[in-house]
This record gives sequence, structure tokens and C-alpha cells, in this order.
Amino acid sequence: MTFREEHQKKAEDIEKLLIRYCPEKEGYQMDIMDAMEYNLLAGGKRLRPMLMQEVYHLFGGNEKIIEPFMAAIEMIHTYSLVHDDLPAMDNDDYRRGRKTTHLVYGEDMAILTGDALLNYAFETAATAFDLAPERSFLIGKALQVLSKKAGIYGMIGGQVVDVTSTGKQINEETLDFIYKLKTAALIEAAMMIGAILAGASDEEVKVVEHIAEKIGLSFQIQDDILDVESTSEILGKPIRSDEKNEKTTYVTWTGLETAKTLVEEMSKEAVAMLESLHPSDDFLEQLLLSLIHREK
Ligand code: IPE
Ligand code: IPE
Ligand code: MG
Ligand code: MG
Ligand code: MG
Repeated sequence: MTFREEHQKKAEDIEKLLIRYCPEKEGYQMDIMDAMEYNLLAGGKRLRPMLMQEVYHLFGGNEKIIEPFMAAIEMIHTYSLVHDDLPAMDNDDYRRGRKTTHLVYGEDMAILTGDALLNYAFETAATAFDLAPERSFLIGKALQVLSKKAGIYGMIGGQVVDVTSTGKQINEETLDFIYKLKTAALIEAAMMIGAILAGASDEEVKVVEHIAEKIGLSFQIQDDILDVESTSEILGKPIRSDEKNEKTTYVTWTGLETAKTLVEEMSKEAVAMLESLHPSDDFLEQLLLSLIHREK
């Protein structure tokens, strides 16, 4: 199988997994399940669950306990997008090729949809205890990482500084802080959880965290590049959102060409660090390299 075919197959399998983990549409609160599904099954790239699964396999994991965590990380990421698009935040109209949640379901329901996805992520991840009670300690550690990297020391913390820095001149340190938290943190969680659940040592989990940080930073810089260079048709979300919102990004800070060089350098550093781990994973390396020139 070529890398492309393998990638396609893995993404399809993750899609099926997400369908399985979507809540049943029932009860008086059915509207919220509908809005959750509207976002979850809109077809994102599924990068975070894919990274989690690859790292899990890299460290020899081969059980089903990874599945609820794969669904959970995508739910948390999806919630972050629903809230990021709200009128009070980036005020964007399209996401994953569809009208944003607040435009379809109303702003009240969009807030609740984000809340629901966040909470349901933990409900879902905690089902791993039923799948493998004998792994309770590792599952507990994975939940600890998931909650921290999604919270004030992770994604939410990054979004807070992104918001408070809007329209202001910020320095490189603040910009790095924003990127590391708003984007790298969930990628770190995804990869660390894969390692933890497979029984990797604390030292190995630290190396994985470091690799994931580089991937996360370069992923956000590439997102900023696409925001000025791509089209809304390809991205499935509006372009020039950062300019509209007066955001300082790596593109405005260093210029487009330097930003591109940084993406390439950081991704290659991540791959080199990955190669220092044994055994290596060809698919994972190719996945990281494919992100350098990703078009969406
Ligand atoms: C978008 O993430 C938000 C960022 C952190 C840059 P993705 O580019 O992974 O979005 P989807 O999941 O493919 O829609
Ligand atoms: C947001 O960054 C990252 C999140 C934590 C949601 P952006 O605001 O650049 O993400 P997009 O471009 O809307 O996907
Ligand atoms: Mg934003
Ligand atoms: Mg945004
Ligand atoms: Mg963006």
C-alpha cells in the first residue's frame, strides 16, 4: 500500500470509530446530539486520533482501550473549533466545509454544543475503565494528561492569550506561548496518551511530548500560512480570518518565506527525534513530512 492509500484507510477507520462513539440521538435533549454529530462527522483531517494510534502502536500497544481516547481527543478538538468560531471569538462562518454551528443552531446551542463535546469526551474516555479494568492506573494517567492539556495549562490557556493579544503588538515569546498552548497542547496529549496507554516509560513519554510540541508549533504556523495562501474551498473554512481579527501570527511576525522555512525545519527535527526512538514507524514519519506541504 502506498502512503496515500494507507492514510486514506486509517482516516476511514477513524471515521467509523467516531460514528460508533457519537451519542444516540434520543430524548428531549436530542438537539444537542444532532449538533454534536453535525460537527464531529463533518470530516476533519483526524490528525490527533491518527497520531495517538500511531504512537500507541509504536510502543507496542494493540488493544481496544486506545479507541475511546481516540474519540475523546477528536471531541475535545472539535469543541475547541466550535467555540473558536463563535461571534465573540473568531466570528467565522464556515468550518469543515459546513456553516458554523452558531449559524445553523444559534449561538446558545453552539456554546452548549462545545460544552457537550468537552464533557462527552471525558465520559467517553472513562469507558476505557470498563474495557480494561486491569489497566486502571494507565487510564488514570492518560486522563490526567488529557484534562491538563485541554485546560488552562493547555489549549484553553492558549486561546485566552490569543484573545487577550488580539489587535496588540506582541513579542515572540508570547507568540510561542500561544502556539504551544492553543495548538501544540492537544497534539502533545494525543501522542503522550498513545505512549502512556502502551506502557511507555516516563522518559519515553517526555521525548514524545517534546516531539509533539514541535509538530504542534509547525502545524499552527502552517495553518497561518494556509490562512493567507489557500482558498476557502480547499480549507473548508474562511481564509484571511487572522487578518480580519488583527491576529499576530508567524506570518505577520516573520514573513511568509521564513514561516515556511520554520515549518520545514521543525517538522524535520520532529522526524529526527522520532527516529531516535525504537522501533521506528515509517507511516508516522511520512505523516509528519506530509504535514509540511499540506494544503488543508
Ligand atoms: C484547526 O485544526 C485548528 C488548529 C489547531 C490549527 P485542524 O487543521 O486539525 O482542523 P480539522 O480537524 O482538520 O478540521
Ligand atoms: C485556533 O487557532 C486553535 C484552536 C485551539 C481552536 P485558529 O483560530 O487559527 O484555528 P482556525 O484557523 O480557526 O482553524
Ligand atoms: Mg482562533
Ligand atoms: Mg479560528
Ligand atoms: Mg487559523
